[in-house]
Amino acid sequence: MKPETLCIHGATDRTHTTGAVCTPIYQSSTFAHPGIGQSTGYDYTRSQNPTREQLEQLMARLEGGADALAFSSGMAAIAALMELFSPGDGIVASGDLYGGVMRLFDNVSAKNGLHIRYADTSDTAAVAAAITERTRAIYVETPGNPMMHVSDIAALRALTSGRDILLIVDNTFLTPYYCRPIALGADIVAHSGTKYLGGHNDTLAGFLVTADAGLAEKLRFLYKTTGACLSPFDSFLLIRGIKTLAIRMERAQNNAIRIADWLLAHRKVTAVHYVGLDGHPSIAVSKRQASGFGAMISFETDSAETAQGVLERVRLILYAESLGGVETLITYPLLQTHADVPEDRRAALGITDRLLRISVGIEHADDLIADLEQALA
Ligand SMILES: Cc1ncc(COP(=O)(O)O)c(C=O)c1O
Repeated sequence: MKPETLCIHGATDRTHTTGAVCTPIYQSSTFAHPGIGQSTGYDYTRSQNPTREQLEQLMARLEGGADALAFSSGMAAIAALMELFSPGDGIVASGDLYGGVMRLFDNVSAKNGLHIRYADTSDTAAVAAAITERTRAIYVETPGNPMMHVSDIAALRALTSGRDILLIVDNTFLTPYYCRPIALGADIVAHSGTKYLGGHNDTLAGFLVTADAGLAEKLRFLYKTTGACLSPFDSFLLIRGIKTLAIRMERAQNNAIRIADWLLAHRKVTAVHYVGLDGHPSIAVSKRQASGFGAMISFETDSAETAQGVLERVRLILYAESLGGVETLITYPLLQTHADVPEDRRAALGITDRLLRISVGIEHADDLIADLEQALA
């Protein structure tokens, strides 16, 4: 089945008798047993719930994985994932990473004895050089947040092959509609489902999708033990959001291409970071491993005053953290998504007071450009 069709029909439970076209919300925390030692397949919602199960199966199908687990947020998913590792284990992670994940790595994972090394994961040789005998995972976000560095998933897989190293890919920016990391060799795919999958800036969610059943079993144990499961209602909202994923991604990307071109020509814009631009250093890798570029853009203005003026003046575009919804949002990484990242690391990445990030939504591109035009005037 093509992904467009899977998005719409991949969660439909045809076994129930009512003929309901949409997955029902099983708003029940617990399930009665038919007899001693018997189960309907559902015991307690932290372990499994029929609505969430439909969503998880849909995500596993979309990502081409063995199993998927739905969490109450992306951070809950990534925090649970870190429980796979033991004190002394090493992780090589993208430097270009959502600031909240860095905060988790630097403060919680480090306290728990994990050794996190940041590397430019768009440079496979740099990753190879960062691997030590204690390395147990390579963790990449691609495209990276907010500088849009692209990591070559298949090349990273070649580095981990035959070694006790998991390849973990955060696929939030592209979604399985544009990129399927498991087919390229990833062991685990992570998501903030809050973003494109939910798609409407109204629900928090997170996912881990595993390539094999063994990893799924380990994560399911951690899942029911640590407990950050997605509620039945939010599972329903995610199923509903995913139904329109394909058309939202296409529309947002078309808008992003127009906006990136427009920004490139603006006299107050000194650099545009968008994977779909011909000048992007990884456009070839991107075309090889993904069927689209997504709709995330970051750009640099000529001064901090210009950048801050845009944030003050936008009217239609909302100055807000987050991404991937139908509404276009503009973010100031320095003060928002990456505020907790140490200053030297921010500076090395290029996260300055002149950098803005746009999550392009699905409004009409003309209206978005008109708003940027008056905000940059
Ligand atoms: C790429 C990426 N991964 C993970 C997360 C964390 O997800 P959540 O906000 O749903 O906890 C975010 C949040 O912005 C993100 O941008």
